[in-house]
Amino acid sequence: MLIRRREDIPFSEITPKSVYLNRRKFLAGIPPAFLAARAAKAGMKLPGLAKSPFSTTEKITPYKDVTTYNNFYEFGTQKDEPSKWAQGFKTSPWTVSLEGEVTRPRKFSLDELLKLAPLEERIYRHRCVEGWSIVVPWVGYSLSALLQQSQPTAKAKFVEFQSFFNSGQMPHAAGIQFPYAEGLRLDEAMHPLAFLCFGMYGETLPPQDGAPVRLVLPWKYGFKSIKSIIRIRLVGSQPATTWNMENSHEYGFYSNVNPHVDHPRWSQATERRLGEFFKRPTLMFNGYDQVASLYAGMDLKKYF
Ligand code: MTE
Repeated sequence: MLIRRREDIPFSEITPKSVYLNRRKFLAGIPPAFLAARAAKAGMKLPGLAKSPFSTTEKITPYKDVTTYNNFYEFGTQKDEPSKWAQGFKTSPWTVSLEGEVTRPRKFSLDELLKLAPLEERIYRHRCVEGWSIVVPWVGYSLSALLQQSQPTAKAKFVEFQSFFNSGQMPHAAGIQFPYAEGLRLDEAMHPLAFLCFGMYGETLPPQDGAPVRLVLPWKYGFKSIKSIIRIRLVGSQPATTWNMENSHEYGFYSNVNPHVDHPRWSQATERRLGEFFKRPTLMFNGYDQVASLYAGMDLKKYF
């Protein structure tokens, strides 16, 4: 594969022209073994999803666009690579360890995670730092439901996330250091909008979109939404994060969607929905004003 200079790879590409062209409690009555079998395989129906009050009513981006135009550098740096190279990705068995500054450290199997809280469908806007956006019906529950299980100690101030990495399974990985790492302040992670995601469009996640479990943080640029998570660690100080380590001048720790703070190489004032021709204005916090109080008094130009 052609490896480009590192400084050319991160988010420097413009969207190619070709791209422009319910209910209630999930768990009641569904045997865990059935859930585990479903979650282990991508594209399996997830039944009995509650509808979320946090959902937007905007037009949903077609499944095909969302699953063939991806950033997942473990499976290549080009947008069409993850859908090709991630197909054989082995997501079973899978565990997520919850550790660090917690009273109850624990490893969860995927089955246990799926049983932890009722699964709901949340239709979120999602804005990539590169200027494209999508509207996706994700499936999961608020991350806080999992974090509460661990009983964070008084020392816990931030949450560090780590993706799975194995060069044998990911021979096309390129462009950045692996494993992929992300982080949030604990209060951000506990906000109800922070979403632990197992599926999309009523089905388990396809591998290119972060199977079997990822974050979705709709008020932040897409790179904060880490895929294929294996470790969640509560810590006392701000953790190192992948894109910030790659280029701290361009990618900050917070990375809240902010049309008033441009990326050093391009404006963030507008965005293009995948599949649409005309650009639309980008909204502060991607329109999720509920999170504004998390940043009260902070200079968001400095803490970008
Ligand atoms: N997570 C991992 N592990 N590796 C990645 O390369 N890319 C991020 C984020 N999570 C990435 C990741 C970026 S840059 C974006 S924009 C979103 O995933 C893309 O998610 P999507 O492909 O489901 O739209």
